[in-house]
Amino acid sequence: MIKPLRKAVLPVAGLGTRFLPATKAMAKEMLPVVDKPLIQYAVEEARAAGIEQFCMVTGRGKTALVEHFDVAFELEATLRERGKTAELQALHDQQLPPGAIVTVRQQVPLGLGHAIWCARAFIGDDPFAILLPDDLVLAETPCMKQLADAYAQTGGCVVAVTEVPRDQTSRYGILDIESDDGRLVAVKGLVEKPKPEVAPSNLSIIGRYVLVPEVIGYLARMDRGAGNEVQLTDAMARLIGQVPFHGLRYEGRRFDCGDKVGFLEAQIAFALKRPDLGPAVRAFLPKYIDA
Ligand code: G1P
Repeated sequence: MIKPLRKAVLPVAGLGTRFLPATKAMAKEMLPVVDKPLIQYAVEEARAAGIEQFCMVTGRGKTALVEHFDVAFELEATLRERGKTAELQALHDQQLPPGAIVTVRQQVPLGLGHAIWCARAFIGDDPFAILLPDDLVLAETPCMKQLADAYAQTGGCVVAVTEVPRDQTSRYGILDIESDDGRLVAVKGLVEKPKPEVAPSNLSIIGRYVLVPEVIGYLARMDRGAGNEVQLTDAMARLIGQVPFHGLRYEGRRFDCGDKVGFLEAQIAFALKRPDLGPAVRAFLPKYIDA
């Protein structure tokens, strides 16, 4: 029996040094794309996949992320008084049920694998999703919903994958491909951040995963991998052969919002999709492009 997917872990302890000074006193996951913080995109995407329980792995200086999902009583009262019903509705739509979100702290920055291990009590014996809020995906069907649907068929582990240029393999977890039907890829190995000359393919993992709880046992070994960090990819690789393990070529466009250019591109792409902003943005863009 394939256990239903109801839990998600959101690793949000990173310092966001690439966005200084913006992130000096603010969590990078609170950076907005158009008018919504990255963390909220991740939570909404997970909810669209049927996920009901969330664990944010936070660190120092990240309290705004917790505040963001709380009821803002004074704000709501003021909006109500002023008859701002649309704004009020937007707040209500993002509201999670009481108790749906918990936080744990990653006390030391030992890597993504260590961050996920910090959520072990929340994960328990259940399958769980991971969403890295830096990776934003614009898609007809939300990316995590695509993964959850694939997981409901295959069970085991499913990770979202996309082709990257060969010279960029050292930025990602890379798949060693067993077989490939063009959409679902059976995985026979995983390598974290390989140099192009040794990368087994150019199919990279993006920040969306569905994993079995057994991965925690491997993370607990605290083996150090690339960058001397506890790598999630290395622990996942140990599950191959024990449980079904697939990459899913998701439909949609991924933006690396941990990178300035990716973040700016996301602003434009998401704004153009918005009925209220798209036409105005389309109208001004040519002014900034050399003829
Ligand atoms: C992490 C993972 C990597 C994955 C990437 C996706 O790397 O370790 O396997 O490909 O996220 O964004 P990071 O971006 O934290 O270096």
